[in-house]
Amino acid sequence: MLFRQLFDTESSTYTYLLADEATRKAVLIDPVAGNAEQYIQLLRQLDLTLEVAVDTHVHADHITALGILRDMTGCATMMGEPARASCVSATFRDGDKIPFGKLELEVLYTPGHTDDSYTFLYRAGTRIWAFTGDTLLIRGCGRTDFQNGNSAQQYESLHRKLLALPDDTRVYPAHDYKGWTMSTIGEERAHNPRLQARGVDAFVTLMANLKLANPKHMDVAVPANLACGKPRAA
Ligand SMILES: [Fe+2]
Repeated sequence: MLFRQLFDTESSTYTYLLADEATRKAVLIDPVAGNAEQYIQLLRQLDLTLEVAVDTHVHADHITALGILRDMTGCATMMGEPARASCVSATFRDGDKIPFGKLELEVLYTPGHTDDSYTFLYRAGTRIWAFTGDTLLIRGCGRTDFQNGNSAQQYESLHRKLLALPDDTRVYPAHDYKGWTMSTIGEERAHNPRLQARGVDAFVTLMANLKLANPKHMDVAVPANLACGKPRAA
């Protein structure tokens, strides 16, 4: 599997390119609109065809490139069913497979940060790569105070679904603000302060006391992203 981790400096978003080397078919996870030209250039340089572009959830802090990429490459675009984003070419739900060439991502529903938050799993033999969106960040987790976020659901997603993965599962989040690039489930279990809360009630209290400011571009980004990052047709 060919793999690239790309970074958007403005929103500290990670975008992931995975490709099947045999068929040259690729998937982009969480692409950012402002970087679409860069993705197209990289796809061309690596001799790849973009088969599908997916978002882990409807982002509040940047505009998705799904609509632009579909226009530019003819790729499929996908978001989770609960996003109710009618702009995408297809939706996914828990347990679905998203193929790229002869490889595939497995869809795991991990709500809590938002009600449409998913983790994508890529399995290489016994090794698992988890693209966790904002559900699990490195030494942190996504906030739960808007977009139908729910701390109790987040706790369940973190403890019953993600921490149920093997310790050597690689963790690739949708953001990082401190320079971390990847982690593992074992590392996060041991060192992530949000995972140390004892029980769901303690976690809900911890999340309720964060008192975070809203993301700068939220009022623009959420409606734009429900339209795949493109203005709605008049
Ligand atoms: Fe988010």
